[in-house]
Amino acid sequence: MGAAEPVISVRDLYKIYRVGETKVRALNGVSFTIDRGNFCSIVGASGSGKSTLLNMLAGLERPTKGEIVIAGEHMETKTENQLVAFRREHIGFIFQSFNLLGTMNAVENVALPLTFQGMDKKKRNAKAEEMLELVGLTKYKKHRPNQMSGGQQQRVGVARALVVEPEIIFADEPTGNLDSNTSVEVMNLMKKVVREKNQTLVMVTHDNYLAGFADIILRIKDGKIIEIEDKRGTGVSDEIISVPGKDREKHE
Ligand SMILES: Nc1ncnc2c1ncn2[C@@H]1O[C@H](COP(=O)(O)OP(=O)(O)O)[C@@H](O)[C@H]1O
Ligand SMILES: [Mg+2]
Repeated sequence: MGAAEPVISVRDLYKIYRVGETKVRALNGVSFTIDRGNFCSIVGASGSGKSTLLNMLAGLERPTKGEIVIAGEHMETKTENQLVAFRREHIGFIFQSFNLLGTMNAVENVALPLTFQGMDKKKRNAKAEEMLELVGLTKYKKHRPNQMSGGQQQRVGVARALVVEPEIIFADEPTGNLDSNTSVEVMNLMKKVVREKNQTLVMVTHDNYLAGFADIILRIKDGKIIEIEDKRGTGVSDEIISVPGKDREKHE
């Protein structure tokens, strides 16, 4: 095998919500594979199934049917406790609403995920300051969220998601609360940081322009992937390349 290494693999994924008498097919048969080190955007109109797909990839919701393999492990067969442990070890999140703690300054917010790893305070703060430097916020390290602009807060959010060096980062409309110039800055920042560490970033957005910053663009409509664009030419496939633990005979 060459450099291409599938890190996210989805096969025949369905999510059907029952609302009273009706069924909503939020995901209606989705299959794709993404290789490590890519920035992938999932773009589509409101209600097309973006958040459902992202939540399923992150193991926050269970599929009705189908397979999801993340970093070599099947998500759909894990217990809740296994999912929690898996997320802690492999996954970072960037939220639209930043989700920073108002009583903590920037360093403390960024250092927070490291406390769950049992790292001592001196190390945590050193690591957090390193991340803040990477996102260009060294001058603001002692500022609390309400003493920063939206863009600065989201850069703290990016630093916090990346401080544990997750293999995969999921972002749901990460710039939904930012103006367009600031959104572009955050896109470039995310792109730079994940590129440096060969991480995989999956971002959901309704905004075509912002989606265009990614290496790979998946267009979703009515719960189906209708188009895949791969600008680097190597990072995505609508075929399943390999699904460890299952379907070995289909492997090519
Ligand atoms: N918990 C839920 N119960 C019922 N329907 C839902 C639920 N979550 C999402 N949906 C429906 O599934 C579809 C896709 O939703 P969603 O994934 O949130 O779309 P997007 O993030 O692209 O706006 C929509 O029709 C939405 O109303
Ligand atoms: Mg959504």
